[in-house]
Amino acid sequence: MKTLVITGGSRGIGLATAREFAAAGWSVVSVARRACAVAGAHHVAADLSDPGWAERHGEELRAAVAGSDTIALVHNAGLLTRDSVASVTQATLREVLQVNLLACVQLDQLLLPRMGPGSAIVYVGSTLGEKAVAGSCAYVVSKHALVGLARATAQDLAGRRIHSVCVCPGFTDTGMLRDHVGGEPAVLAAIAAGSTFGRLVEPEEIARVILFCATNPSVNGAVIHANLGQIER
Ligand SMILES: NC(=O)c1ccc[n+]([C@@H]2O[C@H](COP(=O)([O-])OP(=O)(O)OC[C@H]3O[C@@H](n4cnc5c(N)ncnc54)[C@H](OP(=O)(O)O)[C@@H]3O)[C@@H](O)[C@H]2O)c1
Repeated sequence: MKTLVITGGSRGIGLATAREFAAAGWSVVSVARRACAVAGAHHVAADLSDPGWAERHGEELRAAVAGSDTIALVHNAGLLTRDSVASVTQATLREVLQVNLLACVQLDQLLLPRMGPGSAIVYVGSTLGEKAVAGSCAYVVSKHALVGLARATAQDLAGRRIHSVCVCPGFTDTGMLRDHVGGEPAVLAAIAAGSTFGRLVEPEEIARVILFCATNPSVNGAVIHANLGQIER
C-alpha cells in the first residue's frame, strides 16, 4: 500500500497535493488543525506550532500508516509572518521555526522507522529558501534552513533507498498569499506580472511537481524551483 502523509492538507498546495496523490491511487493522511476534504483521507488533528504535538499524536500517526510499505512524507504546512530582523520577536521566530522546520524533523523521526525502500521525503520550501526579500525575516530564515534539512536528509539516508527533495514554489494562488497581501487585487496583479508567464502559479501545478519528485529517486538531494520563472530586475 502507498500512503501520502502530508502536513497542511486542509487547504492550498496541501489540499491540491492530497487530491493529486489520491487520484494516483495513494491513501492520504493529513496532519493539520482542519480536516482534509479528500474523500477517505485520515485527519490527524494536530497543531504543529505546539512542540508537544508529536508526543500527543505519535501513536495515531503510526497506526494511520500501518500496512504501508511506501510512504511519501510531504512537509507542506507553513506559516508566513510579516516581520524584519529589527523587529521580529523571539516568540514569532520560535513559532515560525517550530511549524516550518522543527515539526518536519519531529515527523521525520516519527515515521522514518516505518518507511521502506521507495519511500520519499518532500520538503515544501520557497523561492525564499535561496534568496531573501525584506519584511519576512522569520520565514526566510526557516525556508533557508529547510533547504539544508532536505540536503542533510538525502545524505543521512544514503543506502536506505529513501530519497529527499526540496520543492520551492514561487507565488502561488492560495490563502497564504492572499492573506499576506490583504486580498488586494492590485498587489496580486503586480506579483503576477513579476513572473515570465504573467500569472500566479496554481496550487495544482505545485502538486504535480511534488508527485513527480516523490516518485522519482533520481532527484534525491535536489532543490527544485517551481515559480514560472521570476523576472529578475
Ligand atoms: N502560496 C505561496 O505563494 C507559496 C510560495 C512559496 C512557498 N509556499 C509554501 O507552500 C506551503 C503551503 O502553502 P500554501 O500557500 O498552500 O498555504 P496555506 O493556504 O496558508 O495553507 C497552509 C497549510 O498549513 C497548515 N498549517 C499552518 N499552520 C499550522 C499549524 N500550526 N499546525 C498544523 N498545520 C498548520 C494549514 O492547515 P490548518 O490551518 O488547517 O492547520 C494549511 O493547510 C507552505 O510551506 C508555504 O510556505 C507557498
